[in-house]
Amino acid sequence: MAARRSIGIVVNGVTGRMGYRQHLVRSLLAIREQGGVPLAGGGHIWPEPILVGRDPDKLAAIAAQHGLTEWTTDLDAALARPDAEIYFDAQVTSQREKAIRQAITAGKHVYTEKPLAESSAASLELAELATAAGVRNGVVQDKLFLPGLRKLKRLIDGGFFGQILSVRGEFGYWVFEGDWQVAQRPSWNYRLADGGGIVMDMFPHWNYVLEELFGNVRTVQATTATHITKRVDERGEEYTADADDAAYAIFELEGGIVAQLNSSWTVRVNRDELVEFQVDGTHGSAVAGLRGCKIQHRATTPKPVWNPDLPLTGKSFRDEWAEVPDNEEFDNGFKVQWEAFLRHVVAGEVFHWDFSSGARGVRLAEAGLQSAREGRRITIGEA
Ligand SMILES: NC(=O)c1ccc[n+]([C@@H]2O[C@H](COP(=O)([O-])OP(=O)(O)OC[C@H]3O[C@@H](n4cnc5c(N)ncnc54)[C@H](O)[C@@H]3O)[C@@H](O)[C@H]2O)c1
Repeated sequence: MAARRSIGIVVNGVTGRMGYRQHLVRSLLAIREQGGVPLAGGGHIWPEPILVGRDPDKLAAIAAQHGLTEWTTDLDAALARPDAEIYFDAQVTSQREKAIRQAITAGKHVYTEKPLAESSAASLELAELATAAGVRNGVVQDKLFLPGLRKLKRLIDGGFFGQILSVRGEFGYWVFEGDWQVAQRPSWNYRLADGGGIVMDMFPHWNYVLEELFGNVRTVQATTATHITKRVDERGEEYTADADDAAYAIFELEGGIVAQLNSSWTVRVNRDELVEFQVDGTHGSAVAGLRGCKIQHRATTPKPVWNPDLPLTGKSFRDEWAEVPDNEEFDNGFKVQWEAFLRHVVAGEVFHWDFSSGARGVRLAEAGLQSAREGRRITIGEA
């Protein structure tokens, strides 16, 4: 039998939404269920999660439920274990920087949820520290692995669009205030002091999506809002929601593409998916969501004539678009990126979603907030 290469992974914040579902269950445990991550030269990588959190009862329950034995509330002790080679962080954003510094000092490779830190300066420092310590590092960039965006990338690589002119994206849904219906997202997201705010949450995603598909971001102009100012938390107590819950932004990219992205926790969905990007090019257009992707070629583009006096008859504009086929099996995006990171650590395979890329995401969020504050367009890196 081919060799099994076990690797201890400290999973901090495993009781949280992302830590538990996407990273433990859908990624690390799913990797074990499939028999590990195969290595090119034979054998496979076998993740051994070491669960870390603040609540021993919750940790014990998760461990028992999934047949795991290693858990602790003592991060130092977990990091001191020689078999723990990787530190992974899915804690609330405000706790991340300190823990990552500890992990780097302990000589661990580090993989983390986004945003990498709460400020661009801190993110850059973490990138420098990780490089200086010679530890491998990575930041979750799950949206790149969504089927809809994979199809969009395929269209770009296949030259479908001709010259890409613009991108318009809509992201968001109604997050309940928590009074008469329980809120479906944790309350810290709506408090500035706890690292909340939709710009810090979503612009790190938009940065890598734009960078990888369309070009580096040159400028940003954003208007933000806190539309809902009172919410009710997990304990049923009302709190002041002072973090931005909507951002309306225009990004100019290197190469001239204009991207306009709305992000909102205060919008009711009237689209096919929770996120959609429309890309318009000289030869064709596409609308990509989480899973689906529809296209319209220049040769099949209808010629609307403006006449509000007449009702539209026949096919709706939406019906004129064609679905892009899957052509491959799409696995969970978080898992795919975990597999790539594990191969990066164990086999030295290339992995460019590193701390410096994560730091660029935080820098864009900061520039977006600055733009909103100062009411002007910010050139990235101008300060
Ligand atoms: N990649 C994505 O699509 C995506 C989506 C949502 C959230 N996230 C990121 O994942 C991280 C966690 O988000 P979540 O939605 O899972 O949050 P969550 O509130 O569900 O989980 C937070 C975790 O941090 C722990 N924690 C540690 N110190 C804490 C403290 N002082 N206060 C509160 N909790 C503390 C909690 O116990 C819990 O395990 C955030 O950084 C967020 O930006 C990423």
